Amino acid sequence: MIKVLLSEEAIAQQVRVLAREVSASYSALVSIARPLVVMPVLKGSLFFGADLLRQLTIPLRLEFLRASSYGLGTVSGALTSEIPDAALLQDHHLLVVEDIVDTGQTIFKMVAALEACHPLSVKVCALLDKPARRSVPIEADFRGFTIADQFVVGYGMDLAERYRELPYIGELEECNF
Ligand code: IMP
Ligand code: MG
Repeated sequence: MIKVLLSEEAIAQQVRVLAREVSASYSALVSIARPLVVMPVLKGSLFFGADLLRQLTIPLRLEFLRASSYGLGTVSGALTSEIPDAALLQDHHLLVVEDIVDTGQTIFKMVAALEACHPLSVKVCALLDKPARRSVPIEADFRGFTIADQFVVGYGMDLAERYRELPYIGELEECNF
């Protein structure tokens, strides 16, 4: 029912590449006095955030974002987000860490809410990109893998709260009951 799409090794290697890109692009912009604020979006980015953070070589501070959609569907506009206190974000470079960008609605709303806190910049680092379903004009600044229009689970990502614990990213195949 679940086919391995990206192995643990493939993910780890790409996370190292992303960490090098992120570290290089912020090294001249951040300092101990003004660290990069790295913000994984819960729950899906728990593992990606943890792995990415441990590979970064720049001063940083960890804060969490939370995105939730009401009900079972993914109806556009039904999404709420929780962000840290604006005082923590003002005058800092912010990096949103997201598991996957699909329609783009989640990061679009997150970025808009964060911009309102007067940061120095807001960028997005996404492990997966599913460009086929984009409905708003937004792209992640740092991207791990581009995938086709397919539903994936594991490495933090779920189907109705299942499969988050898988160490790899799997493709869900049709299941006929
Ligand atoms: P967007 O708002 O449509 O870009 O959706 C982003 C969010 O939907 C991600 O943060 C995931 O939580 C979830 N999502 C989108 N595609 C998948 C998938 O293939 N598997 C699991 N979750 C997904
Ligand atoms: Mg998510």
